[in-house]
Amino acid sequence: MFDGRVLVITGAGISAESGIPTFRGKEGYWRNLNPADLATPEAFARDPNLVWEWYRERRARIRAAQPNAAHLAITRLAANCRDFLLVTQNVDDLHTRAECDGCRVSTAQIVHIHGDIFSTHCSNCDSKELSQKEFDGQLPVCVQCHSLMRPGVVWFGEQLDLRKVERVEKFLAAGGCDLVLVIGTTATFGYIIDWAVRAANENGRIIEINPAETSLSPFATELLRQPAAAALPNVIDVLLK
Ligand code: OAD
Repeated sequence: MFDGRVLVITGAGISAESGIPTFRGKEGYWRNLNPADLATPEAFARDPNLVWEWYRERRARIRAAQPNAAHLAITRLAANCRDFLLVTQNVDDLHTRAECDGCRVSTAQIVHIHGDIFSTHCSNCDSKELSQKEFDGQLPVCVQCHSLMRPGVVWFGEQLDLRKVERVEKFLAAGGCDLVLVIGTTATFGYIIDWAVRAANENGRIIEINPAETSLSPFATELLRQPAAAALPNVIDVLLK
């Protein structure tokens, strides 16, 4: 048992070893694809078929993937520490599928800050009801207002869900963290660094687990330049000893 408060922040790198591509870097989506064509409200308005095709492919890839040792280690930590929050930028469901010793990360312990690739809502009125079974050959349409449905993820140029931001802020306001783990993210977005630094609150450790340097690295107290699935089980073993 770890008698402390822990914030874990994850990004695409933690799912890389489950076979899900990251966004940046040499194998990343944004190397060959343009975010402006696929991950903005304007792209969806221009070519919803193209955008849905990309999300359908990603859904299929995620469904076929399995949580790796890093996801399992985080579940183990969540089940064995006093106060825990996981903020993931990943829209996959590998954290919630990762079961360890009969435990899973609970919905109260995880914030999917960039949304959930398996959810669908109306692009106009936010309704979640579909007028047809999803993808029976046509794009899904809203029952309420007949606009196109869209994937429930945050696109470039869109605001984060304020209720989710509030959940993170509430956790930070409840006290400093003894440990902040930042795993597999380039920390491109300022709020990631901000949350990590504020959570550690001068006395807490910030451990970065990432084979490459990132914008978060200068703020970390320890750097583990290894793949997450190799490094994380050991980190958690030591912590829970
Ligand atoms: P990125 O693709 O920007 O970064 C992935 C990070 O994972 C890089 O720093 C890699 O060095 C690292 N990495 C790669 N393999 C790893 C491994 N096996 N173990 C640990 N780390 C590894 O992904 P994110 O930082 O998650 O936004 O990207 C942030 C956001 O940008 C995403 O959520 C998405 C994207 O555009 C939205 O969809 C809104």
